[in-house]
Amino acid sequence: MHDTSVSRPNIIEHVPAGQMCCDPIWEAAYARFETPEEEVAKFVRRLKQFGFEGLDRNSKIVEIFCGRGNGLVALERLGFVNVEGVDLSDTLLQQYNGTAQLHLANCLDLPFEDNSYDVVIVQGGLHHLPQMPGDLDQAAGEVKRVLRPEGAFFVIEPWRTPFLTFAHFVTELRVMRSLYPKGDALAVMTEQERVTYEQWLAMPSKIREVFRRHFQEVQWKTRWGKLAGVFRVG
Ligand SMILES: C[S@@+](CC[C@H](N)C(=O)[O-])C[C@H]1O[C@@H](n2cnc3c(N)ncnc32)[C@H](O)[C@@H]1O
Repeated sequence: MHDTSVSRPNIIEHVPAGQMCCDPIWEAAYARFETPEEEVAKFVRRLKQFGFEGLDRNSKIVEIFCGRGNGLVALERLGFVNVEGVDLSDTLLQQYNGTAQLHLANCLDLPFEDNSYDVVIVQGGLHHLPQMPGDLDQAAGEVKRVLRPEGAFFVIEPWRTPFLTFAHFVTELRVMRSLYPKGDALAVMTEQERVTYEQWLAMPSKIREVFRRHFQEVQWKTRWGKLAGVFRVG
């Protein structure tokens, strides 16, 4: 018989559970914004744009701030077999359904050996850091420490471009929020993370300076409201 059961994710707890819980309002808006399948398809597209199809499928990869792990599912769909994820929310990690090793840990203090990964990836996590730019400096230092000398760091984060300003303007209009449910969901999510999100968007040059202090910049693309950055250790 076909097994349709959802297996329990494999989580190593490096910090106590319950430190960060998913916000039910944000969660509900997120569920309205994208289905898991739409989200996985988006992550697959992004990984292809970064050139992941050309990487060795045995590369040791860790996604930091992985949340419920749909980015890990995308990596698995592309055939990567050495995939791990780190997040501080045990409730989000529990929602992952796949074979990657998960770590309940703080991304400011990664529970990994020095020089142990080929690739680190983050998709929308750094803009949640509360103490900026100090926390980013610490997170970047940790990524650099755990990457091998030939390793690469792939970053997708929100970025203030004319498109983002326009998208916020439109989705915050009362009439649009009632006509366009996806826009309303986006507006609710933005509202819930407003403080760190605005703080992140307000310091583009400081952020770039921190990345450049730790890494060699290989790609810095800002368009459609996103930064798509690629950095190397040396
Ligand atoms: C917007 S979610 C993004 C999740 C995932 N990358 C995605 O796109 O679905 C941000 C995530 O960062 C996590 N997070 C925030 N601060 C963290 C920290 N210091 N260490 C580890 N995870 C953290 C939250 O628990 C949340 O899962």
